[in-house]
Amino acid sequence: MTQAHPRISKAVIPAAGLGTRFLPATKATPKEMLPVVDKPAIQYVVEEAAAAGLSDVLMVTGRNKRPLEDHFDRNYELESALTKKGDAGRLAKVQESSDLATMHYVRQGDPKGLGHAVLCAAPHVGEEPFAVLLGDDLIDPRDPLLSRMVEIQEQHGGSVIALMEVDPEHIQMYGCAAAEPTADGDVVKVTGLVEKPSPAEAPSNLAIIGRYVLDPAVFGILRETEPGRGGEIQLTDALQKLAADEKVGGPVHGVVFKGRRYDTGDRGDYLRAIVRLACEREDLGPDFKTWLRSYVHEEM
Ligand code: UTP
Repeated sequence: MTQAHPRISKAVIPAAGLGTRFLPATKATPKEMLPVVDKPAIQYVVEEAAAAGLSDVLMVTGRNKRPLEDHFDRNYELESALTKKGDAGRLAKVQESSDLATMHYVRQGDPKGLGHAVLCAAPHVGEEPFAVLLGDDLIDPRDPLLSRMVEIQEQHGGSVIALMEVDPEHIQMYGCAAAEPTADGDVVKVTGLVEKPSPAEAPSNLAIIGRYVLDPAVFGILRETEPGRGGEIQLTDALQKLAADEKVGGPVHGVVFKGRRYDTGDRGDYLRAIVRLACEREDLGPDFKTWLRSYVHEEM
């Protein structure tokens, strides 16, 4: 079977934000390195890209972000100490993150917004469609989303964004999509996008979450996009231009995600992610759940 569109192989992970919601933990440590149970949040994101077949990962980083590069590199000192001890289990854990994908890095310099971070990936990505995974958005590994988005992009071309239904009162925290249904129950055609609308202005309760498969035409638009809200170059503004004119970069579709997702840059969501994922773990879950039940019973 001939493929109508080039196969997507590159993932871009913007991780250059300041993480101010998580101060003081993020003063000298990138928020993406905060552990969710015993793995840094960013490792779940790279694992997700690899599971969707994207083995070329470009991380957009900035100042204070060195630990991100170290985490996905080999650590010979630790490896040789664990080899000498014969501790194969822990050795595998150390090696896991450096074997996941071919990693590349680019620095954003000034964090001038998500749109600007994506634009920093242009020389690496070239003229192919590519995926963007936000480094602080954790999709539960049991609820695959990115592979479905890649499939929809291969069917329709253009760009695909991830959407999630939220309480209408919370839509002002997200980018919001105007959309029409398609023959696929979980897919909509996006006709417009607006960044953080008030509930009265919002065209729907479909919020944009941190996964995208984008046509490279987005780079040309980002180069011409003026800073929007907060003086930042907004990715949503560029996507709105793609959605408004299919001739520029093809259609924009949305996959409506019904699974579990956590914003690990938000303290409450971060705690929820840890509790949920710890409960599901075979090694930790049984004891942790017993403790959690009695804690809730006694303290709440
Ligand atoms: P956030 O909106 O969560 O921004 O960015 P932030 O600055 O990291 O966090 P707070 O609000 O100050 O706590 C969403 C994603 O876009 C990346 C972030 O790293 C995060 O993965 N980002 C944001 C960049 O890479 N560069 C930017 O200029 C802004």
